[in-house]
This record gives sequence, C-alpha cells and structure tokens, in this order.
Amino acid sequence: MKHAVVTGGNRGIGAAIVQALQGAGFRTTVMSRSSGVDVTDAAAVADAFAALDAPVDVLVNNAGIAPSTPFSRMDEEHWHDTFAVNVHGAFYCTRAVLPALAKRGGGRVINIASTAGLKGYGYVAAYVASKHALVGLTRALAAEYAASDVTINAICPGFAETDLLRASLDNIIDKTGRDEAQARAALASSNPQGRFIEPEEVAAAVLWLVSDAARSVTGQCISISGGETT
Ligand SMILES: NC(=O)c1ccc[n+]([C@@H]2O[C@H](COP(=O)([O-])OP(=O)(O)OC[C@H]3O[C@@H](n4cnc5c(N)ncnc54)[C@H](OP(=O)(O)O)[C@@H]3O)[C@@H](O)[C@H]2O)c1
Repeated sequence: MKHAVVTGGNRGIGAAIVQALQGAGFRTTVMSRSSGVDVTDAAAVADAFAALDAPVDVLVNNAGIAPSTPFSRMDEEHWHDTFAVNVHGAFYCTRAVLPALAKRGGGRVINIASTAGLKGYGYVAAYVASKHALVGLTRALAAEYAASDVTINAICPGFAETDLLRASLDNIIDKTGRDEAQARAALASSNPQGRFIEPEEVAAAVLWLVSDAARSVTGQCISISGGETT
C-alpha cells in the first residue's frame, strides 16, 4: 500500500485530498497543528517524518494561511508568518522526503499553491509572494530531480469553499460594509466561470498526478480556476 503524507489534511482542500487518496487505496498520514505537527517548526517536522513507520511515496504540501491587509499596514509578523507556513513549511517537509524518494527510484511531491502563485491580487501581498515562491520551489526541484523519476508539481486553485475562504469573506464584509452575497459575488467574479472551486476538484488533480499516467508531468503549475489564469 502506497503511503501519502498530506499537510493540513484535516479540513478544507487537504481533507478532500486525503479522502480521495484513501479512496484510491493509499495509506495517509495527516500533519497539521491539530495532529501535533506545526510545519513552521523545522525540528518538529524532522521528528514527525523520522517517526513514520512506513516510507513515504507521496507528499502533498497543502498547509497554508492567507492573511490579508493593505500593504501599508502589513507588519513583519504578517509577512514572516505567511512565509513560515506557505514556503518554509513546504521546504522542511520536502527536504524530509525528497532524497529518500529519489534513492528509492520515484515518487511524487505536490504543492498546493494558488492562482496567487501565478498572478497578483490586492491586499494579500505576503500570500501572493509566498505562493510565487512555492511555484518557484516546484520548478527548481522538478529540474533538479527529473532524472530520478520523482515528479514535483504545483496545483493552483482559484477561490475554493473552505475555512480559508470564509476568513476572506468575513474580512471583506468587515472592511467594506458589503453583505455576504456581495462579498461572495466579488470573490467569485475573479473566476470566469463565476463560481468557487470545490475542494474535490483539487483532489481529482492530485489523484491524476500520483497516477502512473502522469509520470512525465513534472515542474507544472496546474491552474484549477475556471480559466482565471491561462
Ligand atoms: N480556499 C481557497 O480559496 C484556496 C485557493 C487557492 C489555494 N488554496 C491553498 O490550499 C491550501 C489549503 O487551503 P484551505 O482553503 O483548505 O484552508 P483551510 O481550510 O484554512 O485549511 C488550512 C489547513 O492548513 C493547516 N495549517 C495551517 N497552519 C499550519 C501549520 N503552521 N502547521 C501545520 N498545518 C497548518 C490547517 O490545520 P491546523 O489548523 O490543524 O494546523 C488546515 O488543515 C492552502 O495552501 C491554501 O493557500 C486555497
């Protein structure tokens, strides 16, 4: 049975990915703060991977945060916290598995980035910069590890229905005085299909990337966004 580690797999997009992988016969391990692993803590991440009782075949770096603020009010904590989860966390987890995956002759690393890794949005400069960094990490590692049969890809969803989206909606309602329907319409309008992405759509892309059929796909950033980025 293949073993997949999914960071932030306890809710939202990560939970949908875990469910899909389990449905495809994978054994899954979730790493999140509620399961006792903070991906911003390099030592805790190293310890968590060292304690696993089965080798890892698939790593999904999904844990992420998306705080928002006007740039003029962004403090250092906001910037560093965002990078700590979205970039450093992915780095710590990836370095814990990638050399072993290469040595064993193959595997998959999938980074859940965002359309914010491919284009800019206002009021989320740290988030956008961090997701661009995650896309850069994906491309660099794919180039470095191509000969090892480890594929490393990013999935870039548009706005999806999760707690993270809820926080963005609450922020818009609070800061702009718009009501729930107006806030939802404003976010959904960035998707040319005029809707939010379902977490299961992201999970379906993960299932394809872990399949043998996708063995030649590496270094790619797959946009699941109704055509928001092309
Ligand atoms: N929802 C969207 O619109 C959207 C769009 C594009 C991309 N994404 C990306 O998709 C990923 C998942 O987002 P989501 O919408 O599912 O968010 P979510 O519902 O808020 O879930 C975030 C997950 O990350 C985990 N997490 C947060 N900080 C962590 C830390 N320091 N250490 C370990 N785990 C941590 C959380 O678990 P704990 O709280 O237990 O730690 C939770 O499982 C993120 O990378 C996000 O940027 C989301």
